[in-house]
Amino acid sequence: MDMKNRIAEKFRTLFGTDGQFFASAGRINLIGEHTDYNGGYVFPGAIDKGIMAEIKVNGTAKVHAFSLDYDEYVEFGLKEEDKPAQSWACYIFGVCRETLKRGGKVEGFDVVFAGDVPLGAGLSSSAALESTMAYALNYIFSNGIDKFELAKIGQSTEHNYCGVKCGIMDQFASVFGKAGQLIRLNCKTLEYKYFPFNPQGYKLVLIDSCVKHELASSAYNKRRASCENAAAAIRKNHPEVEFLSDAKRVWLDEVRAEIPEEDFLRAEYVIGEVQRVLDVCDALERGDYETVGEMMYQTHFGLSRLYEVSCEELDFLNKLARKMDVTGSRVMGGGFGGCTINLVKDELYDGFVQAAVARFTEKFGHAPKVYDVVISDGARLLLDE
Ligand code: GLA
Repeated sequence: MDMKNRIAEKFRTLFGTDGQFFASAGRINLIGEHTDYNGGYVFPGAIDKGIMAEIKVNGTAKVHAFSLDYDEYVEFGLKEEDKPAQSWACYIFGVCRETLKRGGKVEGFDVVFAGDVPLGAGLSSSAALESTMAYALNYIFSNGIDKFELAKIGQSTEHNYCGVKCGIMDQFASVFGKAGQLIRLNCKTLEYKYFPFNPQGYKLVLIDSCVKHELASSAYNKRRASCENAAAAIRKNHPEVEFLSDAKRVWLDEVRAEIPEEDFLRAEYVIGEVQRVLDVCDALERGDYETVGEMMYQTHFGLSRLYEVSCEELDFLNKLARKMDVTGSRVMGGGFGGCTINLVKDELYDGFVQAAVARFTEKFGHAPKVYDVVISDGARLLLDE
């Protein structure tokens, strides 16, 4: 049975009625990692893996929520003190609370949801859930909240209810995603531009190490704090620096002795990465995929050695890609496990994927997963087909 039918069947069994269907997507990011909370550029797109939910207002003051994937039912109220214990339910609760805080209406509703975004793979399953819920509540309660604010509702949910001080990239991609298009977002001004992405002769493939490191969210928050510390030091000399992305490389050198070396290295990575996104956009417009790929390798180097969010498994996949003449490869998303994203020439694709699976399995004792990337639509109402 497909996901929609499984959700519909459960909804009818639990609630004796039918609701409306909504969906949103996970995301990839071609380049621009850990730049979003530094006011830099990102270059994501929504993918064909996401979350789907059926929802209906229930006339009570409570949310009745069922996760098909966890096979778990939770009920909670809508006041701040009603936060549920289950982490999956906190995402839904957070979206309700953040909508209410913005003056939106939220009353009790029933929801059943399921997803096919692999968890912990760096594909933003949580943003997919937040965006589905933010979009759905906005629709069923006719709140008229604009799309940027819907993305921010998801981001604030992470900050205030899930303990991750994330940037806006994942929720933005999940809300604004369009089939066949990547989106370059300036995270400072929130200006964005769609870029059709259909690299003739190349494929994008994700290799999921299936490694998920504990404490990833506290390590993530620590990276953010390092960047803010470096930006604050630079700001003393250059008051125009609002975010680290505003800083020139030489300005960072000026404060090297004043900040911990670790913060210096983090900032060095970010300043380089902001420029790489722009270089990749230019290269894409020229159809120059060799440059796109080279920038991806540079990003991997920075994420591994300077930002230190890679791991042995991901470095192994990256090295193997280089050895096999894959055009570009790098760890994708927050890091600390998850996937590499690889730009591979069509004729090298089969050989690379087979070798990656075989060699990785041999070395680490478990098989990685392989996902072909299809750039797809973001948050939406699903009409009856
Ligand atoms: C996670 C965060 C994003 C972004 C990426 C790294 O996915 O949720 O905001 O910072 O990491 O680019």
